[in-house]
Amino acid sequence: MVIGKPLLTVEQIQEKVKELAAEISRDYKGKELLTVGILRGSFMFFSDIVKSIQVPMNIDFLIVSSYIKTKNKGKIEIHADLREDIKGRHVLLIEDIADTGLSLSHIRNMLLKRSPASLKICALLNKKERRKVDVPLDYIGFEIPDKYVVGYGLDYENKFRNLPHIVTFKKST
Ligand code: IMP
Ligand code: MG
Repeated sequence: MVIGKPLLTVEQIQEKVKELAAEISRDYKGKELLTVGILRGSFMFFSDIVKSIQVPMNIDFLIVSSYIKTKNKGKIEIHADLREDIKGRHVLLIEDIADTGLSLSHIRNMLLKRSPASLKICALLNKKERRKVDVPLDYIGFEIPDKYVVGYGLDYENKFRNLPHIVTFKKST
């Protein structure tokens, strides 16, 4: 297997993170946030963006698995649920990538049943072409083509998450 072309540099990512954080800070001015990271993929993006959001916040995490290659495709498993009660709170989900949309849609429906005051989604990457279910994305970092990417939290078989930038990934045959 090989790592392919650089898609997004450290500088491009960091600049975008600051832009998104500024927009979020403006939108939630005067409110208090519950910022929820969807693990494991969003861990780097989450830790960068919360540093630049200028709104009082609590943080929490959801640990989920999405089966994208196996025969259980589309099945989402929740390994660890939130510790916070989200009723009446302004929840902002932080996700690495929206691909088919199945994971985010599942998570969104699950959390909406708990009656948050609001629920918005921020995804660093969006692969629109691959969408299977509609899910509203309130903040999007980059629209990317239908290519598998790794780095900055994103993995292939739980590897490459530690790369500081994002590259396309190809499995050699
Ligand atoms: P979904 O298809 O929108 O449900 O995306 C499910 C999950 O698959 C995402 O949260 C990512 O963790 C993972 N994923 C989708 N596309 C990629 C990719 O290009 N690289 C790494 N992980 C991906
Ligand atoms: Mg993910």
